[in-house]
Amino acid sequence: MLTGKKIVLGITGSIAAYKAAVLCRALIKRGAEVQVVITPAGKEFITPVTLSALTQKPVVSAFFTANDGTWNSHVDLGLWADLMLIAPATAATIGKIANGVADNMLVTTYLSMKAPVFVAPAMDLDMYAHPATQRNLERLKSYGNHIIEPGTGLLASNLDGKGRMEEPDRIVNRIERFFEKEKELAGNKVLITAGPTQEKIDPVRYISNYSSGKMGFALAEECAGRGAEVFLVSGPVERTTVHPRIKRIDVETAEEMYQAAASHFPEATIAILCAAVADYRPAQYSKNKLKRQAAPALSLELTPNPDIAAALGEAKKNGQLLMGFALETENELSNAQAKLRKKNLDFIVLNSLQDRGAGFRGDTNKVTVMDAEGNASPFPLKSKSEVAADLVDLLVNKKRTTE
Ligand code: PMT
Repeated sequence: MLTGKKIVLGITGSIAAYKAAVLCRALIKRGAEVQVVITPAGKEFITPVTLSALTQKPVVSAFFTANDGTWNSHVDLGLWADLMLIAPATAATIGKIANGVADNMLVTTYLSMKAPVFVAPAMDLDMYAHPATQRNLERLKSYGNHIIEPGTGLLASNLDGKGRMEEPDRIVNRIERFFEKEKELAGNKVLITAGPTQEKIDPVRYISNYSSGKMGFALAEECAGRGAEVFLVSGPVERTTVHPRIKRIDVETAEEMYQAAASHFPEATIAILCAAVADYRPAQYSKNKLKRQAAPALSLELTPNPDIAAALGEAKKNGQLLMGFALETENELSNAQAKLRKKNLDFIVLNSLQDRGAGFRGDTNKVTVMDAEGNASPFPLKSKSEVAADLVDLLVNKKRTTE
């Protein structure tokens, strides 16, 4: 249910705007308070009278009310809302909000919005497929906005393809699920390690691995989206976080990662160790760049790094859940199982470099999750965000059954 939720519904100039009346009604029926903000083009497709009758609120469209000059405050709307939904969202509005072109009330409201934003595109198939639209949608995703993918079918142009605004009921279900999910880990602090570590040899060289941080960052967004406060301890990666509940702590070496993880673990109820930590570092750091020598070979002496997962496994108290990862190339199941036991984990997520699309760098992963009770659940190849959702589902269920 959406009882008490305040929703700004942005409507733009698409034929799908007629569905906005049904959408409005469905949101209100489920308990939401709806404030419509409509673009001038939107008013060509659905009248403000219909919308204000449904919402029992004046529809906001212009910066000022013509008869008395009252200012419509987009800033107040940005603070008032629990969620903004732009449905239908035309290619023009998507382009404007992606690029901050604040030339109407809807775009200024979007730019002032403090709450999560959902965007439901509606347009002709070629417009939707155009790289400009796709780039703008990607940009919105990078701002943390949620895109409600359009459906495929007959379009207003009589062409058949992808571009139909998602059906109102499905949009409302998605919003309801979003608010439900936000409660699942509310009040929990989650510690996540992500990315590689870099172990310095000299001022210009280091030992590291191919981890991009994608898997760990996806987990951080997923946990934050479920309401948790997230401490993301990350090795050096070219990534940004989106959710405001993620506190990022950047480190370089395994020793620094260990210190950061160990200091946040006591307050965490869940720790997910996704980082690819270097097991060894050079025993000596050379202050000056090592020079090529006449000798036929150069030996580098290595010394062990702390095992963060094992240290947290030893410190683990009742009520704390520990999920580790295992990146394997052979004897995958038995190696992962051995790590689960040795590090006192509750779950281990096996990804094997034998599987296409799994492991480092890519946008997908294929995992098998093993738990301390000896169960193994294989998952198909999925995007790293979907894998993150599956893994957090397991953690949420485990918490529910143990609390
Ligand atoms: O970052 P991406 O490019 O998206 O790639 C994701 C990933 C492949 C890095 C990720 O899915 C993954 O598998 N991470 C763990 C990789 C790894 O180092 O596995 P491992 O089998 O060596 O380590 C086992 C577990 O112990 C891991 O949870 C690891 O974080 C932890 N560990 C290992 C060594 C160490 N010194 N400290 C640790 O905490």
